[in-house]
Amino acid sequence: YSLKSYNTFQIEHSCGQLIHAKTKDELISACLELYLSDEPFLVLGGGSNIVLTDDYLGSVVHIETKGIEFTEDDEYHYLSVAAGENWPQLVERTLSMSIAGLENLALIPGTVGAAPIQNIGAYGVELMQLCDWVEYLDLRTGDLKRLNAHECLFKYRDSIFKGDLLTCAVITEVGLKLSKQWQPVISYGPLRAFKEASVTAKQIYECICNMRNTKLPNPDVLGNAGSFFKNPIVSRAVFDSLVENHPGIVGFTVDDDSIKLAAGWLIDRAGLKGLKVGDAAVHEQQALVLVNMGQATGKDVTQLARKVIKAVAGRYGIELEAEPRIIGANGEKGLADD
Ligand code: EPU
Repeated sequence: YSLKSYNTFQIEHSCGQLIHAKTKDELISACLELYLSDEPFLVLGGGSNIVLTDDYLGSVVHIETKGIEFTEDDEYHYLSVAAGENWPQLVERTLSMSIAGLENLALIPGTVGAAPIQNIGAYGVELMQLCDWVEYLDLRTGDLKRLNAHECLFKYRDSIFKGDLLTCAVITEVGLKLSKQWQPVISYGPLRAFKEASVTAKQIYECICNMRNTKLPNPDVLGNAGSFFKNPIVSRAVFDSLVENHPGIVGFTVDDDSIKLAAGWLIDRAGLKGLKVGDAAVHEQQALVLVNMGQATGKDVTQLARKVIKAVAGRYGIELEAEPRIIGANGEKGLADD
């Protein structure tokens, strides 16, 4: 089975078996059966955060569960969303129902079930601020369990689903909690032009759609997995010494002693925009994104990523970390193992 249309990098690789899980019951029974059989298997949502470097030898379970339940009380709208729902469509749908809160996370490719894994975030908002709970299938016991947002251990592009629960959880449903006392988040660059008292969620939504559409390549046109590297977090001392040698370096304060560096700036100023390996390239409009110019293999992408990491380390002494997951013949592996 070809996986080309199941990964936004549009890399041509196959898998041994492809299971379409359309209901929660189908998802649970497929995953438990595979887990108990000891065969390698991969659970896939939108495929927007993976790089396939080989034909995958195991089975792929594609999450296609659907359903959104809306409830509310005086203070909040509560959404209970099936893992297979499409994230950008969910954002659009809530706004069309005049439920505000998700607008800053417009157009992020992928499924709702994948959103908590790396705590998706953009333009000043992260999923953790809106997440109420996450329900997952515990493969070890076969039970459905629910974690509240605190228990998910959300951090920048990180959660318990990339940590302790990495190999034993399949997210089945996500609860969101959107305050009726809506507060616009307009801290990011161009959004500052809006006035807090008058701006609407729809205006923010449209502004973000515009920004994304101009800066970030559309994966339907140019395969990619969004930002390929995480923005590295460094101490203030490290930041201060970097500023001396690299005036203009872009960093955002995280807390008293942590600064998040703009990896796109580091890559850009290292002169790497347009760098290619095979048909994989550093995107010209946003250096943090690696793109498939047409026929790139996963190995082109990982080799390019390693070149970028090496060049950035050589110039700034900063080790960039890949954001997408690298999937080889037998499952997830490190970028260096390819
Ligand atoms: N920059 C450059 N050159 C570049 C790219 C960026 O100089 O080629 C500079 C920009 O001028 C800006 C700074 O770097 O001063 C930051 O760039 P930008 O605001 O575009 O955001 P980012 O840090 O590159 C992060 C997220 C994006 C998210 C945006 C907006 C990560 C890894 N990426 O990118 O998320 O959309 O902020 O909030 O945190 C994703 O994760 O896939 C993703 C697209």
